[in-house]
Parts: sequence; structure tokens; C-alpha cells
Amino acid sequence: LLFSALDSPVAHDLEPALVEAGFAVVSNSSAHREASDIPLVIPEVNADHLALLSPAAAGGFLVTNPNCSVTGLALAVAPLHRRFGIRRLVVATLQSVSGAGASGPRAMELVDNVVPFIDGEEPKLESELNKILGRLEGGRVSRAGIRASAHCHRVATLDGHLEAVSMELDGNPSPEEVRGTLEEFRGDVCDLGLPSAPERPIVVLDAPDRPQPRLDRDCGDGMTVVVGRIRSCPALGVKLELLSHNAVRGAAGGTLLNAELLAARGLLTEGAAA
Ligand SMILES: NC(=O)c1ccc[n+]([C@@H]2O[C@H](COP(=O)([O-])OP(=O)(O)OC[C@H]3O[C@@H](n4cnc5c(N)ncnc54)[C@H](OP(=O)(O)O)[C@@H]3O)[C@@H](O)[C@H]2O)c1
Repeated sequence: LLFSALDSPVAHDLEPALVEAGFAVVSNSSAHREASDIPLVIPEVNADHLALLSPAAAGGFLVTNPNCSVTGLALAVAPLHRRFGIRRLVVATLQSVSGAGASGPRAMELVDNVVPFIDGEEPKLESELNKILGRLEGGRVSRAGIRASAHCHRVATLDGHLEAVSMELDGNPSPEEVRGTLEEFRGDVCDLGLPSAPERPIVVLDAPDRPQPRLDRDCGDGMTVVVGRIRSCPALGVKLELLSHNAVRGAAGGTLLNAELLAARGLLTEGAAA
């Protein structure tokens, strides 16, 4: 079992070579997330997508986790898509500095400033969301068909991506119905006892000024998405704020949870995925 957190251009060639050599690779890199035969997985949301696995001759395979901003968004809106169906979604992100990795903006670029551009980020939000929330049909993922639009910003917080989301849902449910749906959600794998899985994948806060990165990013040891300010949206129907720890749930913690899911499904024993 190999964990990959390589830069995408490096992962693009190296990860398939490791798969060919017989390794199970769980990756945080974006290089292969969109490939139709590679699962893009958040265990609580779409563990069934592991059925896409097509092991190489030596038994290796690749499983990916989403972009850090997509992870929080997809986890928080998955129960709403499942229960009501999301037609349109607009998201504006306030993304922390650690999400940019070692080559991120210099400190001086972010003092007294917000950078309204993150290279390649908006298309990832718009596309990965539709793959994760897509349905497995006939051995393929049929994409969710949500018309999603993203605005991404780099801000001066250290960890934790805050996202402001407006949605048009089928049936136009009330904020109370939306809140109840999120509160009830435990996810598909809650009975597996995965060590890194939080007790509650989504926590809803009622205080009018939450979630906040400094106060809420460590909820569930950084594996819980915190949602707040669920209210009516005059433009699309309902809106909310969400916060997800980009370096835990959105990166290393998400990758680890995927490996734990593979182990629980018996896919890490020799030849098991064949
Ligand atoms: N930061 C986040 O919140 C986050 C969230 C989700 C996904 N991701 C994705 O995760 C990956 C890593 O992100 P990061 O923020 O940790 O980036 P990073 O700080 O730039 O780290 C990249 C790492 O890759 C290593 N590397 C580069 N080329 C290599 C090679 N040829 N062989 C072996 N190692 C090599 C680098 O090693 P050296 O230090 O020796 O150069 C460095 O440790 C990226 O694909 C990123 O898109 C990041």
C-alpha cells in the first residue's frame, strides 16, 4: 500500500507505473481523479464507486480522493443531493494558505489582501463534484448533472477552507428541512468502524457567526465538515456556509480514510481486487 501526495505532473506518470508494479496506491493528487476507470472517493458519500477498480495484471490499483475544496463541499451537499436533487449550485471559497502547498503565495502577498484566483481550482470544483455525486450504473459513473459555478479565493488563514454555497434544490425544501437532512446524515460506512472516520461527518452549528476557521477546523479531529447559517436564498432557494480542514479531511486524512475503507472491504490482501 502506497500513499501518494505528489505534485500532479509527477503523479501523472509515476502513479500508473506503481500500479503496474502491483501496488495499491491511494492518492491525494489531482492527476488521475477524472479518469473514468479510477474511483474518486469520499467513503461516507460514494464508497460504491470502488466498483470502478480495474486492477493491473500485477494486482495494483489506484484510488483517489478529491481536491481539498471539493471534499468539504461534496460531503456537505451529498445528503441534499441524495434526498432532494441539486439542480444548480454556486460556491465562493475562502481558502487557507496551507492549501497552496510549499509553492504557495509569499506572506507579503496575503497581508492586507485576498487573491481572487487559484490556478485550476474552479474547474475542479465544478467537475469533481459531479463525479463524486454521480451514480454507479452498469459499471460506470453517470455524472450528477449539477450546474455548478465556483469562485475561488486565497485568504490569509493558515488551515481550513470556508465556503459560501447557494443551491437550487428540487422541491424547494425549507432551511429547516435542509438542516434536518444534514443533521441526520451518518454516511454509508458508519458501521465499518474505520479508525479515522469521525462520529459525525457533518456537524451543524446554529450560532449566527459560525463556522469560523480558527474555532471549528479541528471538529472531529479535522475530519468533520462544519455547516452553519442555513437560510433562504432569494436567488437559488437555500444557502449555507461550510468549513472543512483542507490538510486533514481535504488531504492526508481523506487519503488515510480511503485506505481504511479498502482494508475494511478486503481489497488490500494479495489479488483481492482482481
Ligand atoms: N495542501 C493541500 O491542502 C492539498 C489538498 C488536497 C490535495 N493536495 C494535492 O496533494 C499534492 C501535494 O500537495 P502539497 O500541498 O503537499 O504540495 P507540496 O507542499 O508542493 O509538496 C509536494 C511534495 O511532492 C514531492 N515531490 C515533487 N516531485 C517529486 C518526485 N519527482 N519524486 C518524489 N517526490 C516529489 C516534493 O518533495 P520535495 O519537498 O523534496 O520537493 C514535496 O514533498 C498535490 O498534488 C496537491 O494538489 C493538496
